[in-house]
Amino acid sequence: MATESPLSTFGAGKVILLGEHSVVYGHSALAGPLSYGVRARGVPAKKCQLALPATLSRAQRALLTGAFARAAKLVGEPAVKVTLDPELPLSVGLGSSAALSVACARLLLRAAGQEPSPKEAARLAWEMEQEFHGTPSGVDHTTSAHEKLLLYRRAPGAASVGRGRSVDSPRPLKVVVALAGERSPTKVTVAGLRARQARWPERYQRLFAQIGRLAMEGAKAVEAGDLEALGDAMNVNQGLLAALGLSSPPLEEMVYRLRGLGALGAKLTGAGGDGGAVVGLFVDPEPAVTQLTRLGVRCFSSQLAGPRAS
Ligand code: PMV
Repeated sequence: MATESPLSTFGAGKVILLGEHSVVYGHSALAGPLSYGVRARGVPAKKCQLALPATLSRAQRALLTGAFARAAKLVGEPAVKVTLDPELPLSVGLGSSAALSVACARLLLRAAGQEPSPKEAARLAWEMEQEFHGTPSGVDHTTSAHEKLLLYRRAPGAASVGRGRSVDSPRPLKVVVALAGERSPTKVTVAGLRARQARWPERYQRLFAQIGRLAMEGAKAVEAGDLEALGDAMNVNQGLLAALGLSSPPLEEMVYRLRGLGALGAKLTGAGGDGGAVVGLFVDPEPAVTQLTRLGVRCFSSQLAGPRAS
């Protein structure tokens, strides 16, 4: 490390507005960065290491240590001790592992004397993401590293990362994220869907293609400032996710709650399954956050794109 002062880097969480799961099968997804994420801090040390809290299970420690070591090796194992500070709820569909990967990638690159571009941070974070998820689509860490609303599409071939096109919004794009209980790991939900689509490929491919079209239409709606059209695409996407077997009573209930509170559109976000996060699109999210908090729902608002009030 160049100086004695601690290094500090950030990786943003993400929210998928349209296209989770079908993105794994090569279709488009629309995703944006959250203002919450994971912060990594580094101090000079004798060797390159990741310090983990004792509260983690042995399996979690092994996974994190292995993923970190894979990335560290690629940048020459700079002499830095890294600690992590997650601001995001973990494993609910908000891209915590990608945020962690991006924060670590940025920190390792900076400790190795480089000031990484989003592309370079994404490339190194991808190495960690593969350890966490096997064959992720790449939408999570790409959105996190670029910190922009992206229309993302996976590159053909499991070994390559995909591409994101930045989507500009003339209007503030604000969401409420609300948590609807615990859920199974992404891997499990993705594997269940893979088994169903292998059994009935035509039916499932048809739905994936429809969802990919919704993502492209949603991006156009954002660019045109048509939040109502984006909200409608989100509602239709929720119906298709339910058709794919990815929703559940806790998620549906939260979706209807957000719609009842004035969401222009609401759907599960991330892998879904038996619980996890729900995203609602709002012109003014704060009254909904106040109301949900009063009811004991864990939730927050975030602006994903568009002009910000100064
Ligand atoms: O639930 P998360 O944050 O792990 O998001 C998963 C998104 C999926 O589309 C279901 C998987 C992927 O690799 O894109």
